Amino acid sequence: MFKAKTVTRNILDRVLRLAGARVITEKEEEASRARYARVVQNLYDVYAEHLFPDLREREGRIPLLAKLVGTEMGEAMHLLHWLQNAQDGGEGDIVEMGVAQGATSAFLANEILNTQRHLWLYDSFQGLSRPTAQDKLINDIENRGSMDRYESAMSFPQQLVWQRLGSVGFPAERTHIIAGFITPEVRTLPDVVAFGYLDFDLYEPILTGLRLLGPRTRPGSVLMVDDYGYFSSGPERAVKEYLAEDDRFDLAVGPTSAGYFCALTRR
Ligand SMILES: C[S@@+](CC[C@H](N)C(=O)[O-])C[C@H]1O[C@@H](n2cnc3c(N)ncnc32)[C@H](O)[C@@H]1O
Repeated sequence: MFKAKTVTRNILDRVLRLAGARVITEKEEEASRARYARVVQNLYDVYAEHLFPDLREREGRIPLLAKLVGTEMGEAMHLLHWLQNAQDGGEGDIVEMGVAQGATSAFLANEILNTQRHLWLYDSFQGLSRPTAQDKLINDIENRGSMDRYESAMSFPQQLVWQRLGSVGFPAERTHIIAGFITPEVRTLPDVVAFGYLDFDLYEPILTGLRLLGPRTRPGSVLMVDDYGYFSSGPERAVKEYLAEDDRFDLAVGPTSAGYFCALTRR
């Protein structure tokens, strides 16, 4: 029996190798997940002790950190820091613009589970909108060759977001998922925004998002913009244009060692 298993695995391995893949047993997968979770925990401890000593602990945070997709550990730690600051500043809901499969949404949801705050999630669920002339390709992250070819990239079904929110037990009554391409006409918005994470990747939707959320912030609110100087030149340009329109925000650009993002704190 053991021999038959080994022979089958060897044959499968050879076939899969032709496609650049290989067999991994469930046990190996589990071991690799556990190893990764330990690395995340270690990194978390170092960040928390040396860079964010004021960060309060939250149950369930580490497994969700390990499940983030495309958000570096350093950026996630800054996100926690800004989110805590924004919540300590007073009332308001939490917004994510550009949610993809909902990994960051679940991470945010867990942080506000024991509060009365609502979670507002915006996504086309049809991937990126059409890049504009303001979107110069800086990093060809999916090897598509040109910016134009990123239209519709990163498309995920809304159902995945509900599943991830369900897995952290976030109540549906406090969840608002607004599906569709973002436009200045969107009216389904929170009255007060405490924290917004804008991750649409492109110039036009980021500028639209800032114009929708900015007027709904209060002193101490934070709007964090991802991909500032990464992938497309658009988000950085949108932030600068928005700050020229609304001078009530202080801009902090994240250290590139932690990722590419910035935070706008309302004075
Ligand atoms: C980088 S992904 C978001 C990743 C997510 N924040 C996370 O951390 O896992 C970008 C998302 O923005 C959405 N998106 C891009 N342009 C949009 C637009 N104009 N309107 C609505 N959604 C858009 C895409 O569908 C995609 O899911």
